[in-house]
Amino acid sequence: MTRNSSTDISRRTFLVGTGLGTVGAILSACGTNGLVSPTSDAVIAAEKNRAGGAIRDFALTAAPGTADLGGRTVATWMFGDQLGGPGIRASAGERLRINVTNSLPEPTTIHWHGLMLRNDMDGVPHVTQPLIPSGGQFQYEYTVAEPGTHWFHPHHGTQLDRGLYAPMIIEDPAEPLAYDDEWVLVIDDWIDGTGTNPDQVLAELGSGGHKMDHSAGGAWGGDVTYPYFLINGRRPQQPETKAATPGQRIRLRIINASADTAYRVWAGSAPLTITHTDGNPVQHLEIEQISIGMGERYDALITVPEGITAINAVPLGKEGAARVLIKASKGSVPPILREAPVTARLANYDSLKAAPDVRLTQRRPDRELVVTLAGGTDGYNWTINGRKYPDTEPLVVSGGERVRLTFDNQSMMWHPMHLHGHRFAVGQTDGAVKDTVAVMAMQKRSIEFDADNPGQWMLHCHNAYHAESGMMTTLAYQE
Ligand code: C2O
Ligand code: CU
Repeated sequence: MTRNSSTDISRRTFLVGTGLGTVGAILSACGTNGLVSPTSDAVIAAEKNRAGGAIRDFALTAAPGTADLGGRTVATWMFGDQLGGPGIRASAGERLRINVTNSLPEPTTIHWHGLMLRNDMDGVPHVTQPLIPSGGQFQYEYTVAEPGTHWFHPHHGTQLDRGLYAPMIIEDPAEPLAYDDEWVLVIDDWIDGTGTNPDQVLAELGSGGHKMDHSAGGAWGGDVTYPYFLINGRRPQQPETKAATPGQRIRLRIINASADTAYRVWAGSAPLTITHTDGNPVQHLEIEQISIGMGERYDALITVPEGITAINAVPLGKEGAARVLIKASKGSVPPILREAPVTARLANYDSLKAAPDVRLTQRRPDRELVVTLAGGTDGYNWTINGRKYPDTEPLVVSGGERVRLTFDNQSMMWHPMHLHGHRFAVGQTDGAVKDTVAVMAMQKRSIEFDADNPGQWMLHCHNAYHAESGMMTTLAYQE
């Protein structure tokens, strides 16, 4: 089947001339190929079930700007003038109307990472909408049914590795947790405007010029050497400082918006009580440290200690540090730490269990899919089931099925795999419910989910350079 075989040209004209292969070709023929189109009645019916409440209006402008990273100023692209925020804050049940203006020199779209929203508002170019041209606008409108710590970013090229990311916090109108304050911590690896930019980095990776050193990276290493690591847009030398009172309970909403870096995160000597991952509640777990891959989120409660405490994020397999300071009383500022203290109390997927209200029901899978991840040996190419996007084969499911998907990582690199529009249990049905899961080098990992949100959804590696070099496909609902 080729793109030109589509007769439904009027609705799908945005696909013409985009040079797409298999995925685009199949989607361009929606309605004739048996796949559920993003604009189908099934998608509209699913949205009606979300029964939206009050409408909330937001405006976002993606534009070139200048960011002060704390003692270092860079030219970059961002939303508004505050790097990494403030983003969007709304309540579960609300209907969001977000007007996006593209003042970038290139086209873009915005994806709402973690939301189980209507498919045609998911922000994936050529799959759910046309690109928003430079100088253009697009209005996203959808209901947010579930609370959670999420974020948004462009879904085009390497734009995510500029300053184009921000938190998306959906509050629970019946919040079950008790806390005195809440802080959003967005962690990022920074290279834009430091004599290079993400497009140049990608080009160098492609030409083998940016030497990859996975051996030195250990289990969680990356491909790109970054000069800076940031929390809430600040370098560790001039970090954001939070004022607090000793004994206060604080909810941390930790988001890894990096393109190529995982971190170990801890809060000085204060234990972390993990309450959510990827916006979904877990059985509370008290721990000292977490590892967080690209695209992942953790919510944790801490009790503010006396003095000055650092919440640290050290990049795994890389040189550097990032932090936020908590100033509760007089004290000395702790030194910048570049390595986490050795601890046995480190959260991992096996120690996290879903909270009862999001746990999957016990059920046999109706469909089992294998997703083989490979690449990095023959040039900078990353594949899913042997193919690079957009030539990947869609993974076909039917609405209502319980799907078991097994990632088989046959590469020497780990991959944070993200599924749009759904949440899945990691491993067993009582496993933590997430939307992004790290699959370590040469390992397998299974997830299970209910196919309950019709449409065409991306499944991809959240390493921005892997995704851009082919490691993406779609989860395609069939009629
Ligand atoms: Cu944050 Cu396609 O993802
Ligand atoms: Cu990857």
